[in-house]
Amino acid sequence: MSNNTTGTDDADPDGTQSTDWADAIGSGGLVVVSNRQPYSHTYDGDDIAVEVQAGGLTAGLDPVMQSVGGTWVAWGDGDADREVVDGNDCVPAPPDDPGYTLRRVWLDDEEVDDYYYGFSNQVLWPICHSALTNVTEWERYWEQYQSVNERFVDAVEAHTEPGDIVWFQDYHFALAPAIARERVADDTVLMQFWHIPWPSWDTFRGCPHGEAILEGLLGNDLLVFHVPRYRENFLHCVEAALDDAEVDHEAGTVTYDGYETQVTEFPMGVQVDEIAQRAATDEAEEFWADFTEKYNVADTVAVGVDRLDYSKGIPERLRALEQFWERNPEWRGQLTYVEKGSETRSQIPAYQAIQQRIEDAVERVNDRFGTDDWTPVLSFEEYISKEALASLYRHSDLALISPIRDGMNLVAQEYVAAQIDEDGVLILSDQAGAGRMLDAALMVKPQNTGAFTDAIEEALSMRDAEKRARMQRLREQVAENDLATWTGLNLRAAMALRDGEGSVREPELPTGGQP
Ligand code: F6P
Repeated sequence: MSNNTTGTDDADPDGTQSTDWADAIGSGGLVVVSNRQPYSHTYDGDDIAVEVQAGGLTAGLDPVMQSVGGTWVAWGDGDADREVVDGNDCVPAPPDDPGYTLRRVWLDDEEVDDYYYGFSNQVLWPICHSALTNVTEWERYWEQYQSVNERFVDAVEAHTEPGDIVWFQDYHFALAPAIARERVADDTVLMQFWHIPWPSWDTFRGCPHGEAILEGLLGNDLLVFHVPRYRENFLHCVEAALDDAEVDHEAGTVTYDGYETQVTEFPMGVQVDEIAQRAATDEAEEFWADFTEKYNVADTVAVGVDRLDYSKGIPERLRALEQFWERNPEWRGQLTYVEKGSETRSQIPAYQAIQQRIEDAVERVNDRFGTDDWTPVLSFEEYISKEALASLYRHSDLALISPIRDGMNLVAQEYVAAQIDEDGVLILSDQAGAGRMLDAALMVKPQNTGAFTDAIEEALSMRDAEKRARMQRLREQVAENDLATWTGLNLRAAMALRDGEGSVREPELPTGGQP
């Protein structure tokens, strides 16, 4: 299909009229495709329990699907998932108040090892985070990545009608769009949101099967990144790798194999109002009272919330904290750093190594400075409720978000959304996509330990008026770019392409000058 159209200029600027999307998608439906499913079913003794996935992608798209309806295709990874599906592997979702269909795709152990732990997380993830030394490839990873992409397209095909919008999510499905393009009607819109960074050509040229990855993605009508520099990197990679591709940087289009793909950026946001409401609940207050008492938390608190991934810069953050307590002995006993981690991808050696490094660093700092009644770094991995998390953000005087490379970093936005008292300071790595949106944060390079330590000192000595002014600006920025806005931008762009209305609009962002 062609996508020479104009368009979403008349979009609802705050993106809140979600029913528009459902109406405008009209008779055509929405089919979302992601690796993780929003709900899984697990055995709990003889009963079957429902687990809600906490990840940013699934948590963000579930409300969209609930308001729009349609089908969500995802890996059925719960041990009781097969018990509850119908003959077509479908189950209504959410289970207690169905609004859409969840279509499960089954993966066997080999597929999980080679497609998920293998090509997705030991090739594409490290390449896109510019961590070339963590790339490990086996031929079987690539074979399973191809075949799992085909199997997801089988499911898409079974649920897609002409005029539908198929929305692929993330790096697990780089091949699926080109496969689907051969199988679905011409007026079906294929689009993809790439949730992680896209690297420069000099890094991407190290990607095994990189050309096929680019060709797969060019099966999309619309390919969306978080920020302009990832889009530009992608366009340069296409230009360098595919001789026959025509790239128009100005229009953000690629024509390849007789087909045009629009490439743009819409920064993902969070559910700002819901997070603020949760931060103000009684449950949130109770959590904080219990937590501070149980762990004898100091009066001043810094927080970090991360999957325990090598891209998140956690050892670097702990080094800056260590240097801070070394330089400022008067702050010993006065500041507690809370690290809420989540175990992730621990089957992969690079993850085992980083998780061990983090554990060692926490132990080192606590051994060095801890006393009988003060633990400098409180690190825990247990699940806490959304209210408890909002409370942790609200009551933390500073947030330390220090990824070495990160597509967006929704934690930074969640911290700001929960800052209803407007008295916290955000210290943010300039390597996260969120830096483009959140220009009133104190920006750091996570590996510059001296400057990172300076930033912690600056945050802790900042005058109240400056803190408030910065936090108010950050709060405006996350509210303007919230999840509903992002959804509206994506779906309106897709509808503009489907309905032949012109090229998609790029959002005007508040920016501190980062591309
Ligand atoms: O950041 C990319 C991402 O896919 C997120 O969207 C998601 O929250 C996270 O990684 C989870 O990773 P996994 O599904 O491997 O646990």
